[in-house]
Amino acid sequence: MSPFSARVRRRELLKAGALLSASSMLAPFNLSIAAQPDEQLELITRAIPATGERIPVVGLGTNNYSVTAAEDLAMRREVLERMPKLGGSLIDTAPAYGRSEEVLGKLLADIGNRREFFIATKVTAANEDLAGGKAMIEESFRRLRTDNIELIQVHSLQGLDTLMPWLQELKGAKRIKYLGATTSDDRQHTAMAEAMRKYRLDFVQLNYSLDDRESASTLLPLAQERGTAVLINVPFGGRRGSNLFSRVSGKSVPTWAQEFDATSWGQFFLKYVISHPAVTCTIPGTTKLSHLQDNQRAARGRLPNAAQRKRMEEFWASIG
Ligand SMILES: NC(=O)c1ccc[n+]([C@@H]2O[C@H](COP(=O)([O-])OP(=O)(O)OC[C@H]3O[C@@H](n4cnc5c(N)ncnc54)[C@H](OP(=O)(O)O)[C@@H]3O)[C@@H](O)[C@H]2O)c1
Repeated sequence: MSPFSARVRRRELLKAGALLSASSMLAPFNLSIAAQPDEQLELITRAIPATGERIPVVGLGTNNYSVTAAEDLAMRREVLERMPKLGGSLIDTAPAYGRSEEVLGKLLADIGNRREFFIATKVTAANEDLAGGKAMIEESFRRLRTDNIELIQVHSLQGLDTLMPWLQELKGAKRIKYLGATTSDDRQHTAMAEAMRKYRLDFVQLNYSLDDRESASTLLPLAQERGTAVLINVPFGGRRGSNLFSRVSGKSVPTWAQEFDATSWGQFFLKYVISHPAVTCTIPGTTKLSHLQDNQRAARGRLPNAAQRKRMEEFWASIG
């Protein structure tokens, strides 16, 4: 069992104990799920098929962590300090996100909680330049201030064939634990399916949301068939442009969402994504503590079943 899995297990055991004592204190009253504090709802984790290692189902995207101003850094520090306490673990970053890796490396070193996280970063090989790709990876180790990176993904499939043998070497040398590839564009889905059939990828990262369900047609079933873990990016439709929240502006979350413990739009959208059986973890981007708390809450309690997912899709179409 990895140190992270052991911590998850320990937290689950502690929580189970807390639940037992809380329920015996509260008996014979019937505590409704909605009234329960977050930590009493079960944290949902999923196994990475390649190893069986379990990770919590909601992580963090950091494409807006390229900041320098003290108040911007302080906001992100708050998020990183609180995230593992709420049960979260996986952070997604990339060299393409400006100073994001550097900011993460510094803040995690200052807080002293690097080992609480599963870090996923990315690499590209422009014009099939392997030397450039290798240098980019070394920079990631330096900027993240770590000797081991849990996952390196080929960013938007750029230079996949050039980079894959090198990622396999790094994995063999145990400098990285897992390798993978990403896309956030439906137009790349055919190429991603080819990559998934050609290589044994530990992870793929795909775009999937209530508003864009294209990944569910081929890529998500293929990931299940191939035993590939799946990270979902842009679960709210992406930081840029109009995201899912704009469509529900001024509207209340339907009362039936309480049947699967969703009390905010953020939880509604994330629970749709993580209730797909192929999904291992989603990485909503956030820079705010209140959003982190909201998103981490989606990793607890009940998830929508097939009929409830259908209802969510019908609801989404009805407000389009
Ligand atoms: N090709 C690729 O590999 C690729 C492409 C795109 C993205 N990604 C990864 O996926 C991650 C997610 O994508 P994204 O950040 O662009 O889009 P997203 O997760 O769909 O949406 C992020 C936006 O939602 C807001 N938000 C977050 N939680 C919220 C909540 N509970 N309630 C209301 N608003 C909330 C954020 O605001 P605040 O910042 O104010 O919290 C931000 O504006 C990225 O950070 C990146 O790591 C990868």
